[in-house]
Amino acid sequence: MRRIAFWSPKGGVGKTTLALNFAAAAYYSGHKVLVCDLDPQLSAIDVFNEKRLPFSVVPDMPQVEPNVDFIVYDHAPSIESIPSVDTIVLPMRASILDLKAVNRAFRLIRDKRVIKCINAVDTRRHDERVMAMKLYSEGAHLVKDRSIYVRSLALGETVFQQSVYGARDAQNELKRLLERVIDKQVK
Ligand SMILES: Nc1ncnc2c1ncn2[C@@H]1O[C@H](COP(=O)(O)OP(=O)(O)OP(=O)(O)O)[C@@H](O)[C@H]1O
Ligand SMILES: [Mg+2]
Repeated sequence: MRRIAFWSPKGGVGKTTLALNFAAAAYYSGHKVLVCDLDPQLSAIDVFNEKRLPFSVVPDMPQVEPNVDFIVYDHAPSIESIPSVDTIVLPMRASILDLKAVNRAFRLIRDKRVIKCINAVDTRRHDERVMAMKLYSEGAHLVKDRSIYVRSLALGETVFQQSVYGARDAQNELKRLLERVIDKQVK
């Protein structure tokens, strides 16, 4: 079983969006998945309550170890709760303030496997594109700014449950993130 945390010191960077869509990528690749909502805002639980997700979301850590391939943790924005997991996916925006906040927090997670995920990249904006490409060249994963992420969660679904224009590109971004997470991990 793999434990994957979507964690960031910053708020509003896409932890919940990416955690649920990552879980969907794993689910539709044939894995058993459980999402734990560790944020008192309970946003992932709110989506789950629409009863359209194909996997479960539970509040807090399960008391008994679940029989799943992936536990996906959706964290609150905080530098206090550093998760004990196999991999941290660290979503951030391609902005200088996000980069500074992430760099400041990085010493707290230095000993862990971290995949930086530059989220909601608007490639039409020059500065954002340049920073995203620099971070990409340093090993970060990129997820573009797409309305399908917003729309699907508003429906209580993930991008994997959509067939409209743009859904396939979004699915592929998440599948590539799943491949990276699986890639270097000890089974
Ligand atoms: N790739 C994306 N493209 C477009 N919009 C996005 C993308 N990722 C996230 N969003 C939007 O950005 C907003 C913040 O996302 P989300 O709630 O997932 O962030 P968060 O880090 O979980 O926030 P919090 O710190 O409050 O828990 C939401 O409105 C979401 O729909
Ligand atoms: Mg959240």
